[in-house]
Amino acid sequence: MHQDVERVLLSQQALSDRVGELGEQITRDYAGRQVAVASVLRGSYIFMADLTRAIQLPITVDFMAVSSYGSGTVSSGQVEIKKDLSDPIEGKDLLLVEDILDSGNTLYYLVDVLRARKPASIRICTLLDKPERRAKPIQADYVGFQIPDAFVVGYGLDYDERYRNLPYIGVLKPEVYGG
Ligand code: IMP
Ligand code: MG
Repeated sequence: MHQDVERVLLSQQALSDRVGELGEQITRDYAGRQVAVASVLRGSYIFMADLTRAIQLPITVDFMAVSSYGSGTVSSGQVEIKKDLSDPIEGKDLLLVEDILDSGNTLYYLVDVLRARKPASIRICTLLDKPERRAKPIQADYVGFQIPDAFVVGYGLDYDERYRNLPYIGVLKPEVYGG
């Protein structure tokens, strides 16, 4: 285990099992359709890679990037699109993939922006959900794990751009971020 990690919350095996289940569920729910899968960089890059390989449907993949926490651990509430999707989504079944739904500020804003582009449908798939922290009325259609209010890193999630490459999800020691 990494020295900055207090405990492993979700092991590599637990992540792999659950991502496989989400892929099966999405495959069933969208049977016979093509899905435009889009993820929000950078935190969801590993989840996106694993999830899309667990979906047995014709899909397209696209990416967008929004401003995030910078080096802090608390959302500013201000969201800015840094990189937009490359392709239009009008008339498409859009599945938006996120690493974690925390305050909900990011997704609340994004869903609003994307809905205006008139996709046929929008659903949200988030690997992690911290429902206790929600500040905006938004929920995901697919949730990998509900987790307690602790700052976690690994499997794509960072603190100050570090720890993304840990193969598990761990709770960061509060002293690392001065908590
Ligand atoms: P929200 O806008 O507060 O829902 O925050 C969503 C974004 O905050 C995520 O996409 C992450 O980049 C970041 N975030 C929230 N909680 C954590 C965490 O525990 N670890 C790492 N990043 C987090
Ligand atoms: Mg981040």
